[in-house]
Amino acid sequence: MSQPSCVVHHEPESLRQACNDARAKGLRVGLVPTMGALHAGHAALVSEAHRRCGFVAATVFVNPTQFGPNEDFAKYPRTLDRDVALCAEAGACCVFAPPVEAMYPPGEATRVRVSGLTEVLCGASRPGHFDGVATIVTKLFALAGPCTAVFGRKDYQQLKVIERLVRDLLLPVEVVGHPIVREPDGLAMSSRNRYLSDAEHARALSLSAGLSDAVHAFERGERRVGVLRGIVRSRMEPAVDSIDYVELAHADTVQPHGDEETLGARALLAVAAKVGPARLIDNVVLGEDPAPKVEEAR
Ligand code: PAF
Repeated sequence: MSQPSCVVHHEPESLRQACNDARAKGLRVGLVPTMGALHAGHAALVSEAHRRCGFVAATVFVNPTQFGPNEDFAKYPRTLDRDVALCAEAGACCVFAPPVEAMYPPGEATRVRVSGLTEVLCGASRPGHFDGVATIVTKLFALAGPCTAVFGRKDYQQLKVIERLVRDLLLPVEVVGHPIVREPDGLAMSSRNRYLSDAEHARALSLSAGLSDAVHAFERGERRVGVLRGIVRSRMEPAVDSIDYVELAHADTVQPHGDEETLGARALLAVAAKVGPARLIDNVVLGEDPAPKVEEAR
């Protein structure tokens, strides 16, 4: 079967023009921001945008401002040709892949900061990360104009930050959160999974296994924060190299609950851990999401 066509734009103004042209034809614009190294989880985001919109633009940009000094910016996989093919297959009409200087022109001095949501969970261990995310996403929204933007719920805190910035800055963007896409064995799909050896991949399954155990405990009526955190930690501790956090948090504000608290009907359970060279995250919303199905024997 021949590959559907997909235009690649490198200049910000050509993305802006393409989105304006689409709207002039009466099409809703769908936007799927990514950092590339795309996988089936990203394809699901593009397909979702395609289901909702007549014109879909995916963006591929490894955004330097969201990486800390000792993080993996330099080695983050760059696979543009494969990314474009995947986007085309999933229904994108164009891919925007700008050079760094186009998004951060010399002398640029503006950052977008969303207070409150960004100091906890991943924000606590990655200072400045969400300022970088909020800044680049705001720039992409400025180029795309009125649109429906689709993001994965694996980056749950990021999704809440983006929802808040859209609301606070009065942007004409509908933000859609897409459910986490998992490998057949239960590991949440991530571009960083490709850093893992088979043995590390097997150990990384302890994140989804811990979440799964906690969902089952929650379904049986367990509401004590300390107990639920303990259930997850006891799965992860023997398997991962280090735990960054295991937190139960308010599902809208992402503010963590203390161990002595008791949960209501719905709460975010979010984890982050280092396995080999990869920092991995995963989450479920207790009271809302099903338990991840995990196949640990590999
Ligand atoms: O989720 C990502 O891939 C990135 O954080 C995003 C939203 C594309 C911003 O660089």
